[in-house]
Amino acid sequence: MAYETINVTEMSPACGAIIEGIDLSQDLTNRQFDEIHEALLDRTVIVFRDQDLTPDQQVAFARRFGEPQPAAVSGFEKSKDNPEIDILEYDVENPPHVTRDLWHTDFAGTERPTMGTVLYAKDIPPRGGDTVRVNMAAAYEALSDRMRAHLEGLEAYHDSNQPYGVHVRPEMYEADKGTDHLLEERKHYIPALHPVIRTHPVTGKKGLFVNESMTAFIKDMDRRESDFLLRYLFDYLRTPEFQYRHKWKTNDLAVWDNRLSLHYALFDYTDHRLMHRIVIQGAVPHA
Ligand code: OGA
Ligand code: MN
Repeated sequence: MAYETINVTEMSPACGAIIEGIDLSQDLTNRQFDEIHEALLDRTVIVFRDQDLTPDQQVAFARRFGEPQPAAVSGFEKSKDNPEIDILEYDVENPPHVTRDLWHTDFAGTERPTMGTVLYAKDIPPRGGDTVRVNMAAAYEALSDRMRAHLEGLEAYHDSNQPYGVHVRPEMYEADKGTDHLLEERKHYIPALHPVIRTHPVTGKKGLFVNESMTAFIKDMDRRESDFLLRYLFDYLRTPEFQYRHKWKTNDLAVWDNRLSLHYALFDYTDHRLMHRIVIQGAVPHA
């Protein structure tokens, strides 16, 4: 599709684009939305600069992509008026290293991982707090034929308690943090089983679908084989050529396709950083 209503600047060969020429506070025409959607599929992550949106307007835009996940259990505080919005807020009192980000795919530890995420930068520190994203289809395509054949048909367990578990983040489980619901969830939680090579439901492209944060082990493999293979993949997925690192400005709005991507939020700042996040419901991944 040739873009007629938006201006798309590609940010790295693997992924990322800055989109200009559009005001997301307005109702979008179908043509405008189709072009935005096309850019998202093509670039994995797209960022709109200088957006001035109310929470309702952010929700309305997010809804063009699908239904927001209801009451997503995330440990993040919810916006009072718009429960679809997670408030990600850090500063010197509540520094981001407390959450120790790792490479991850949103909600991969659930049966239906998030389809996409709409993240609005309300306040960005003068330096630090970039986000890196990885195109997992590009990573898959760069594997050798032999490695692709080896991975074909494998499935892996994704465990949300790995990054959010009491062993890793005890501070999240202090009663006064209001995270009792996380403890309650843990009691009933079963790790999700997903294909290691996932086919994107819209583009038909294949990509890797493992992440360092949550992917715990590969089914039907000896523990040592699984650890060895996953360690290799996690290391491989750090290859800079598969990435786009976004340096945020206040009023940027990013959308990423969570179906074949990883991201990592740097925690190299203590100045105030405030993001409003909406996650869109996804489907069961298939091979
Ligand atoms: C997220 C996330 C990245 C960031 O919103 O899912 O990982 O840069 N945030 O805040
Ligand atoms: Mn995330």
